[in-house]
Parts: sequence; structure tokens; C-alpha cells
Amino acid sequence: MSVLVTGGAGYIGSHMVLELLDRGEDVIVIDNLLTGNEWAVPDRARFYRADIADAAALDAIFATHEIDAIIHFAGLIIVPDSVEKPLDYYHENTCKSRYLIQRALEAKVESFIFSSSAAVYGAPGLEPVTESAPFAPESPYGSSKLMTEWMLRDVAAACSGFRFAALRYFNVAGADPGMRAGQSSRRSTHLIKIAAEAATGKRDGLQIFGNDFETPDGTCVRDYIHVTDLARAHYCALSYLRDGGPSVAANCGYGSGYSVRQVVDAVKAVSGVDFRVNEAPRRPGDAAMIVADSTFARQTLGWTPELDDLETIIRHALKWEGRLGNRTGGQPGD
Ligand code: UFG
Repeated sequence: MSVLVTGGAGYIGSHMVLELLDRGEDVIVIDNLLTGNEWAVPDRARFYRADIADAAALDAIFATHEIDAIIHFAGLIIVPDSVEKPLDYYHENTCKSRYLIQRALEAKVESFIFSSSAAVYGAPGLEPVTESAPFAPESPYGSSKLMTEWMLRDVAAACSGFRFAALRYFNVAGADPGMRAGQSSRRSTHLIKIAAEAATGKRDGLQIFGNDFETPDGTCVRDYIHVTDLARAHYCALSYLRDGGPSVAANCGYGSGYSVRQVVDAVKAVSGVDFRVNEAPRRPGDAAMIVADSTFARQTLGWTPELDDLETIIRHALKWEGRLGNRTGGQPGD
């Protein structure tokens, strides 16, 4: 049996592909390379350059490979863009997921793992958030993810052979410890990526968006999770579903919060570079604090984080950034 990874040429998807290959799985990747990079797909995975809504490409994949599980990463991820172009986000993230789920049912795929987001909770308050917290997405991005979760829920209720795991990611960062993969987005918006670019001289410092939040140092608090631990959480979810576990939604974070200022100071300390930092107004839509209660993933999926350490996340992000060369979005070794 094979596992189909959508968006497998992207940041998190490429780490998932490595995790699956490391565990001896047969891996098929579909990616339209809109934001992904073909060089990020290892030779041992079978690669289809196509959109997930491309009927002919999916026909070819399902006709050629026996797929028992789909891990669905493909989609748009920039929250402020989703506010400006909501229909793009509903089309790419929700409509195309609907199509993929339909094709999965037709192909009798039994297990479906979906990249969801802490954005489904909106601004949950100052306590770690559990899966039963109310849904209150504050952006079309969050809504597009939540709508897909609801489709999966309803389909799983209607079709006994189909089960899913919706994994709600907190702030994903870092790179493969062996430097086989990392974040190579052509346009970065995420804090640790931006700080790594600043520390390696690719940008002229960074801005801290808001210093008057109700948090200990006034800057926003987030739960940063190492991308390799996140990929392992998916593998735990895959094993859980293959063993017959019922459909689930699970938070993927560590349960420890760090402020923007703490992250910036840690990047400076690990890199040894004192890059320029400006205080700037709040970024629209930022919640003061979002930290996961990940008890459910640990207990039900059997997930045990192994890289739960901000300094390790930053070290790997910096090392990868150094390997990318001078261009953002470049290939390692450029
Ligand atoms: N930040 C800065 N300066 C920057 C970049 C970010 O101060 O240059 C701050 C942000 O304002 C925020 C924090 O760093 O307070 C983290 O911002 P990110 O953009 O790295 O991440 P977000 O918390 O906004 O978003 C992430 C994911 C989303 C997901 C969300 C859920 O990127 O996909 O977490 O919490 F929906």
C-alpha cells in the first residue's frame, strides 16, 4: 500500500515525505509547485506535478498505485492574504479539499489526515487551548480549514469505511535535523523564518508587531513546534487510523508559550548576531496568546515529542537558512 501526500514539495509536506520514507513506506507526492519546490521531493518518492483538482492526474495516481491513506497538506497558508482574497482561500483550501475527499471515497481510501490549524480557535484566551474549545476563526484561512474539518466529520459519519485525523498545527518552525529539508518559501511571514533570515544577513533586521498585548512582556505568545516532531505526530495519526481508531481532531503543539521578544532574543543568542529590531504597531488579527493543550495527541495518538526545545528549533532553522545561500527560496547549496 502507498501513502499519497498532497503538497509534499512544500515545507511541512517535504518533512512528512522524509518521515514516511524513513519508516519504509511507499510514498506518492502530488504538488502543483505553486509554492513548493521539486528539489524538495526525495528521489525515492514518486512525484506527480499536478494540482489536486486535476482529474486526469488523480485518475492516473489512483489507477497506478494502491493508496490506503492520504495526508493532505496542499493549500494556501498566509493568514493576511486570506483576509484580502477570501474566495481564493475557500477555493484552494475548501473546494479543492472537498474534491479530494470525494476522490478518496471513490478510490476507497480508508485513512485521511488533514493539515488543520490552531486558527480554527481564533483568539482562545490566555490558557492552553483544548480540542473542545469553541471554534471562532478570525480569518478566512481559519474558516477554510474549519469547513474542511466539518466536511471530513460529516463524510466519516456517513461512510463507515472512511476515517480521518484533523491535526491542528500551532506555530511550526525548524528544519530536518539531518538538513535534508527545511523552509524555503519564496515569501516568508513566519517569525522564526524571518528572524533566521535577519541573522544570516538576508534581510535588514525585523519588526516586532505590537508591544502592548496583555502578556508578560507585551508581545504575542505562541507555541512553537519543531517540524520534524509535527511530521512524527502525523505518522502516529496514520498508525492510529490504520489500527482502526475512530476519527479525531488533535492539537499539535508542545504546551509551552514563548513571546516574540523571547524568540528574537533566542535567535540572536543562538546565531551570535545582533540584528536590528524595530518595534512596530500590532499586525491586524494577531491574538495575544495561543498555546496548545496537546494531552489528547500524546494520550490518544501516542505522540511523544522529541525536539521540544526552542533553542533546538532555532538552531536547525538557522543551519538550514545558512545552507539555502543568499536567495530566499533558493535550493540548498545555491
Ligand atoms: N511577528 C513579528 N514580526 C514578524 C513576524 C511575526 O512580530 O516579522 C509576530 C506576529 O505578530 C505574531 C508572532 O510573531 O505575534 C507569530 O507570527 P507568525 O506569523 O510566525 O505566526 P502566527 O501565529 O500569526 O500564525 C501561525 C501560522 C498560521 C496559524 C496560526 C495559528 O502561521 O497558519 O499560527 O495560531 F493559523
